Amino acid sequence: MTAQLQDVQPKLDTRELRNTFGNFATGVTVVTYGHEGGVFGATVNSFTSVSMEPALVLVSLMRSSKAGQLLADRPFAINVLNDAQHATAMQFAGKPQDGHVIDWNYDGVAPRLADSLAWFTCRPWRRYDGGDHVLVLGEVADFGHRPDAEPLVFYRGGWRAVS
Ligand SMILES: Cc1cc2nc3c(=O)[nH]c(=O)nc-3n(C[C@H](O)[C@H](O)[C@H](O)COP(=O)(O)O)c2cc1C
Repeated sequence: MTAQLQDVQPKLDTRELRNTFGNFATGVTVVTYGHEGGVFGATVNSFTSVSMEPALVLVSLMRSSKAGQLLADRPFAINVLNDAQHATAMQFAGKPQDGHVIDWNYDGVAPRLADSLAWFTCRPWRRYDGGDHVLVLGEVADFGHRPDAEPLVFYRGGWRAVS
């Protein structure tokens, strides 16, 4: 019976759902990590702080993405982008930017971007089912921020600045 009920549920319009999700203005982060001697990252706006004690953060990653597959059991960094890092956001969203050089910092448990607005290096904590995404929680090992920069904002599919 359950299957029959599901069959008559109207299908959600996924494009319109995505557009409607996009009304929630967010910051933009790049999740960075090391793998087989290389450094990798994925642009992610599903970042949220979760807990103070212990200090936990969360990102929701597409299962099919490289980050979604690799971030179960390895340290990673959350890099909150500043408003001059638009090209970095594009680069780690799978759109390589001509001549764009990424500067890395290796001083913590995971590689991180050198010039982000804020950063959290994390040890793996838990991983939960999130449908076609996987919810990855990290325990914050170290963190920092720059008082002299402003955030990059993502809203309705476009890049914005706070001011
Ligand atoms: C503004 C923005 C936000 C994004 N947020 C997410 C996100 O929260 N989770 C996710 O899995 N992908 C997100 N993406 C898509 C990934 O950045 C993209 O699929 C990337 O190529 C994944 O790289 P990977 O396969 O190397 O991990 C976002 C892309 C953009 C431009």
